Amino acid sequence: MFNFTATPPLSLYVHIPWCVRKCPYCDFNSHEARDGIPEDRYIQALIADLEQDLPAVWGRTVESLFIGGGTPSLFSAHGIKQLLSEVRARIPLKPDAEITLEANPGTVDQARFSGFREAGINRLSMGVQSFQDDLLAAIGRIHDGSEALTAIESARRAGFENINLDLMFGLPAQTTAQALLDLQTAMELQPTHLSWYELTIEPNTWFYKHPPVRPDDGALWEMQTTGRTLLGDADYHRYEVSAYAQPGRQCRHNLNYWQFGDYLGIGAGAHAKISNAATQTITRTSKEKHPLTYLDATNNRISTSTALSAEDVILEFAMNNLRLDSGFSSTAFTCATSLPFSAIETQVQTGIEKGWLTENNGHIKTTTQGQRYLNELLQLWMPESPRHAENR
Ligand SMILES: C[S@@+](CC[C@H](N)C(=O)[O-])C[C@H]1O[C@@H](n2cnc3c(N)ncnc32)[C@H](O)[C@@H]1O
Ligand code: SF4
Repeated sequence: MFNFTATPPLSLYVHIPWCVRKCPYCDFNSHEARDGIPEDRYIQALIADLEQDLPAVWGRTVESLFIGGGTPSLFSAHGIKQLLSEVRARIPLKPDAEITLEANPGTVDQARFSGFREAGINRLSMGVQSFQDDLLAAIGRIHDGSEALTAIESARRAGFENINLDLMFGLPAQTTAQALLDLQTAMELQPTHLSWYELTIEPNTWFYKHPPVRPDDGALWEMQTTGRTLLGDADYHRYEVSAYAQPGRQCRHNLNYWQFGDYLGIGAGAHAKISNAATQTITRTSKEKHPLTYLDATNNRISTSTALSAEDVILEFAMNNLRLDSGFSSTAFTCATSLPFSAIETQVQTGIEKGWLTENNGHIKTTTQGQRYLNELLQLWMPESPRHAENR
């Protein structure tokens, strides 16, 4: 079915599942660290986990590494240094690999940032959300606006110049002016990257059970359209639904996900997608989700493993690539999936007829209309038969 002669670029994701406090909107695999964090044991588990994954990626080099959470900045600089050197000892990292760590401004100081920088972290992603104290309190953050500003300044002093700020809009009772003020404040700080998410209410969160009053659809639309213009005018170019970057500063790790590259995932609940030229398969796996179950596992930490069919791959490729403003080329489709372009010719043609896609010299892009009707556009890629069997 697949015909890989070479495999797509490879990334590595490391999940740290603890936070100081659980935010009321957050559905990530993150747990309040009430009794401290078993840092050393967890690092050992991460390395054992990586070792188990290695045979699936023999001979390959990691192009980007992302330590996400949870709150990875709760780990000591010493722990992060040990983690990175243990990883490097087992799998080659590209010399200029992008190595990101997610940080919560309520958990960092300059010494910690300096330690992270020395350990080899070269990109920070800071969960700022807002710079306004009343909004931060309304979403249960552990830091205020001035702590966010101090954290960014400390990170710079520690030598970080590649910094992403996470911001959210559509916060409880937020006005359009407040949302735009947050963007202005962020842009004045000149981070290389801004992730600007609309707050979503996820099942299994406090906000799901106790919904806050949020801006209405008209206000959200105004925030989004005006905000996008402000960002573009300040040289922050949108390249994915919520991702904006200065020229050349797109997040290489996330871009690899969206371009349907391969990635290993180690840590509690981490997901992976690996193409294998020897077995001509593409497999998705996930690891034991609960940190304690993950820590207690003695050998196998894989919780689910699914071999993808060609139909799965076509749908997943579309779900990711059609979100990107740059679209994709027919060559990129074949590199990522090993399938011939003819496998999606009908879907592309129908998308063009409906005004949702354009094609120019083998390069396919989603139109503004297509972005608006993204779900309908993706329906064109849905297989009609049951897609896959999952082993647990
Ligand atoms: C893992 S967190 C980032 C690091 C750290 N845990 C923190 O919050 O500071 C990833 C980001 O996802 C975004 N996020 C989380 N839950 C969200 C939700 N329900 N709606 C929109 N964005 C959300 C937030 O901007 C958050 O910073
Ligand atoms: S700090 Fe980040 S990961 Fe932790 S609960 Fe809040 S949003 Fe979720």
